[in-house]
Amino acid sequence: MEMVNITIDGKKIQVPKDYTVLQAARKAGVEIPTLCYLKGINEIGACRMCVVEVKGARSLQAACVYPVSEGMEVITNSERVRKARKVNLELILSNHDRSCLTCVRSRNCELQKLAEDLNVKQIRYEGENIRRPLDDFSPSVVRDPNKCILCKRCINVCRNVQEVGVINANYRGFRTVISTAFDRSLNDVACTMCGQCIQACPVGALREKDSTDIVWKALADKNKYV
Ligand code: FES
Repeated sequence: MEMVNITIDGKKIQVPKDYTVLQAARKAGVEIPTLCYLKGINEIGACRMCVVEVKGARSLQAACVYPVSEGMEVITNSERVRKARKVNLELILSNHDRSCLTCVRSRNCELQKLAEDLNVKQIRYEGENIRRPLDDFSPSVVRDPNKCILCKRCINVCRNVQEVGVINANYRGFRTVISTAFDRSLNDVACTMCGQCIQACPVGALREKDSTDIVWKALADKNKYV
């Protein structure tokens, strides 16, 4: 296997030529935060939480998709890098339903953990929010697009691992939503209810339906007719 020599935060290491900077950093025991990355399944460089400085490159690079090369020098924890990660995270949070107190993923949420790690104390970027209806028609999966961070981990696990492919990105830009074809409910497409999308979701945008959902839905339906 062909190897290259690189330096990460002053540590010199040798890694295979086909490694990304993230793989090399993990091999060197250097921590780089990630959010959209799911090894071997979702390596698309979408969230930019893993940005690092690469000597010679003008802009910061996403470590999860940036390939190593001979003699490369990488800095993973400079002030510039920390500031960029924090801004990226705040922008993601600005259009995220932050009802953490009642979220099933609270204390087990990758976004919440990153916000703590990066010391986010306020959301500086309040702007337009798109509110979308909850999809709770499936007997087993509840989909809340308002908590979705568009990482696409669910899309790639559904399509490439489970070979089902019922979830995709609809629309473009600020209007992008992870949904099904023609925005139908998961109950109305060929979802096999395997639950792998729930496992892949870093936040509470996909979760298992439980008995409380059924009780609340029954109460809501009852109130509709009283
Ligand atoms: Fe690298 Fe999301 S983890 S861009």
